Amino acid sequence: MPLASPYLAPSDPWSDAHLLHALEEVVARELDRHLGVAKEWMPHEYVPWSDGRNFDGVLGGEAWQPEQSKVSEIGRISLVVNLLTEDNLPSYHHEIATLFGRDGAWGTWVHRWTAEEGRHAIVMRDYLLASRAVDPCELERFRMQHMSAGFEHDHRHSMLHSVAYVAFQELATRVSHRNTGRESGDPVCERMLARIAADENLHMVFYRNLLAASLAIAPDPALVAVRDVVVGFRMPGHGMPGFERAAARIALGGIYNLRIHHDDVLLPVLRHLKVLELGGLGPEGLRAQEELGLFMGGLNDQAGRFDERREALLARRRARA
Ligand SMILES: [Fe+2]
Ligand SMILES: [Fe+2]
Repeated sequence: MPLASPYLAPSDPWSDAHLLHALEEVVARELDRHLGVAKEWMPHEYVPWSDGRNFDGVLGGEAWQPEQSKVSEIGRISLVVNLLTEDNLPSYHHEIATLFGRDGAWGTWVHRWTAEEGRHAIVMRDYLLASRAVDPCELERFRMQHMSAGFEHDHRHSMLHSVAYVAFQELATRVSHRNTGRESGDPVCERMLARIAADENLHMVFYRNLLAASLAIAPDPALVAVRDVVVGFRMPGHGMPGFERAAARIALGGIYNLRIHHDDVLLPVLRHLKVLELGGLGPEGLRAQEELGLFMGGLNDQAGRFDERREALLARRRARA
């Protein structure tokens, strides 16, 4: 693993360049640990190829029809959102390569992570097309629209904010894939998404450990970054066509909603890092910690109100059925 740092430590102790330099050894160690636990897997093994047949158009096969899909309606909506999110990998690569650099341990991680993420869109698209789970023309048009718009995350100018964002975002993606698989109604789909979710979990662990090191090296700016990211968190798919409507369905379907975001994404990371109990903070860090605590309390209340509305709506639907 390359340990010689390409970064020179400048005078500002909290500048991105200084933090990149200070964290490089941690990145090298985490990269070694990641490579030790990440298992090779083959996307082609997860695709039911023998279910596939030619489509209409150039090869004169059979046109797609909704009844060909084995996946539930909510599963189809969520699979499209999750695949379009994975499809925007060139934009994510650009973001982290710009902030983390392409040299040394940071660069090795950036490229390795990109290669692992590339598998996710490959296996999902192959599965969706071979099994005729979703409309292939709509999927391709959405992909063109979504990728043509590109993606920039909300805190892209700060390295600490980026580390904090990806720590939560990788876990959010894991939870979203896992729950989509569970709700899909197709065991082949569920197995494929569980495999992807296992990758996302390792990515989360990498960034969470990096965030832990950031909190130790630079507690005040790291806490400010965590507060900003948690308070303003948006999923990377927020710019895609029809996202608001799809997100509402996904929330109601129990795949990803406020309750899941609070209980299964934000809280586990905050607890693991002991962010709300961290001592030795200056005034800025203390204020961020206090605001974060208040925000989490408010979010829990909001999630409670969402749970009640969802339960009432589902009860009405059950009664109608
Ligand atoms: Fe992914
Ligand atoms: Fe990931």
